Amino acid sequence: MSEKVGCRVFENEEGLVAECLRTKSHVSTGCAAGIFLAKEQMVELLTAMCYENPMKRPKSIVDVGCGIGGSSRYLARKYEAQCQGITLRPVQAQMAEGLATSQGLASKVSFQVADALNQPFPGAQFDLVWSMESGEHMPDKAKFVNELARVAAPGGTIIIVTWCHRDLSPSEESLRPDETALLKKICDAYYLPAWCSTSDYVKLLQSLSLEDIKAEDWSQYVAPFWPAVIRSALTWNGFISLL
Ligand SMILES: C[S@@+](CC[C@H](N)C(=O)[O-])C[C@H]1O[C@@H](n2cnc3c(N)ncnc32)[C@H](O)[C@@H]1O
Repeated sequence: MSEKVGCRVFENEEGLVAECLRTKSHVSTGCAAGIFLAKEQMVELLTAMCYENPMKRPKSIVDVGCGIGGSSRYLARKYEAQCQGITLRPVQAQMAEGLATSQGLASKVSFQVADALNQPFPGAQFDLVWSMESGEHMPDKAKFVNELARVAAPGGTIIIVTWCHRDLSPSEESLRPDETALLKKICDAYYLPAWCSTSDYVKLLQSLSLEDIKAEDWSQYVAPFWPAVIRSALTWNGFISLL
């Protein structure tokens, strides 16, 4: 197994697949390839939902919390668009640049280290504001959503795919203690701040007077991969990669 890869499937799934294929490693290849394909399908489904009219294609995209830039490259290719990715981790920005160059996309995509909560862009810049599995890392969800909306161009689209806890019923003020305890374990394992629900996100988006807000719970599609994610954190490389 490659030392570099580890098993951070959520952070590095594309790198993981690439590395497993490159080194012909048998470890986790099946699970990682499955996750990679599922993620690709997720991107396709989301973009199909948002861009039903093929004439409406984003020309400028920002990938907020871009990791090693898998979404950026995919979207830049799919739409022949310019894409800028931001991540907090310099090593990811570097790897993302390297992958873009090696795939002939250097003129289409670029990456920088920057904070999603204080993005280095003027307002109203991007036709598509994309955030895949980065929202759960944001300690201030209101600031996060505000920044996504600020950089979106008029008439632009914001797509957020993120981990959420279940919606509370009208009679509930919080999650049950057993749910809170389970969430704490997950947050401790993946260094995540507090979560919110899908309806909390919807309320934040509504508070900014955004239009045509849609939300869907994809738990049932993600659930099959969850055991692989848990297993990955239990491996030595997975453990090391969390340090
Ligand atoms: C789980 S990874 C997801 C990466 C990629 N979007 C994907 O779907 O594979 C989370 C990403 O969010 C980034 N991130 C977390 N907090 C951030 C912040 N405040 N500003 C910018 N990026 C952040 C991390 O650096 C990492 O790239």
